[in-house]
Amino acid sequence: MKVLIFKTAQEAVDHSAAAVLEQIRERAETVLGLSTGGTMVPVYEKMRATAAGLSFNKVVTFNLDEYLGLCPGDPGSYHSYMRHHLFDHLDFNPHNLHLPSGTAACATQEAERYEMAIKAAGGLDLAILGLGENGHIGFNEPGVSLGSRTHVQALTDQTRAANARYFGTSEQVPRFAITMGVKTIFDARKLIVLATGAHKAAAVQAMRDGPVRTACPASALQAHSQVTLVLDEAAASLFEARAAYADIQGHKVASGHG
Ligand code: GLP
Repeated sequence: MKVLIFKTAQEAVDHSAAAVLEQIRERAETVLGLSTGGTMVPVYEKMRATAAGLSFNKVVTFNLDEYLGLCPGDPGSYHSYMRHHLFDHLDFNPHNLHLPSGTAACATQEAERYEMAIKAAGGLDLAILGLGENGHIGFNEPGVSLGSRTHVQALTDQTRAANARYFGTSEQVPRFAITMGVKTIFDARKLIVLATGAHKAAAVQAMRDGPVRTACPASALQAHSQVTLVLDEAAASLFEARAAYADIQGHKVASGHG
């Protein structure tokens, strides 16, 4: 796992946005895995601000997750989030943009359909992930199978509390979501995990330094050969190997891939 630690959250964000744009520059038909949450808001803002001259028309996107029970027009849905922060501002082809449906008649079938759609698109070239305070990726909560595919996931009280700011109260946060599984995410050819802020430090430590275990779903990524963990100083504050880093070009690099 490659680890990049930046002084500020903005530098970590800028690096992540540039890496996604670079991927699209290299391959116009890139298949992206996209996340939501507060961490990604400035990433999408930066992508919008620095995308001049780059076409997104052939890019294919699959979001990691969606709340169950929310229609695409619901302001709390990830459909709305993505339109608002990214899709409506660039020349994406709407036919290429995928999120799980939160209102399918059968959520389990919808999860299977979504998994097949990712496969049919040739799999994810690059997925950019946030990190839950409890170590979740997508909505894969502690206890999930590390071999899981896209599935219906019950959300923990901690996750519902963390997302209450988008709904008013924790009680108003949906109880279930459809999420790509840990293995679905793991199958992406490249992964960027972005975590900023001191409230993510414990999850970062568990993900990178802890044992691989279902209690921290993100720890499964330790076995991935092309994952870059992008952090600010605050999120890296509990990271064990931190002191051993060499300073390279303004940011610190822990180790190479592998
Ligand atoms: C959310 C999303 C994830 C996101 C994570 C962190 O609930 N399902 O995709 O990466 O939790 O969210 P935030 O960036 O707001 O801390």
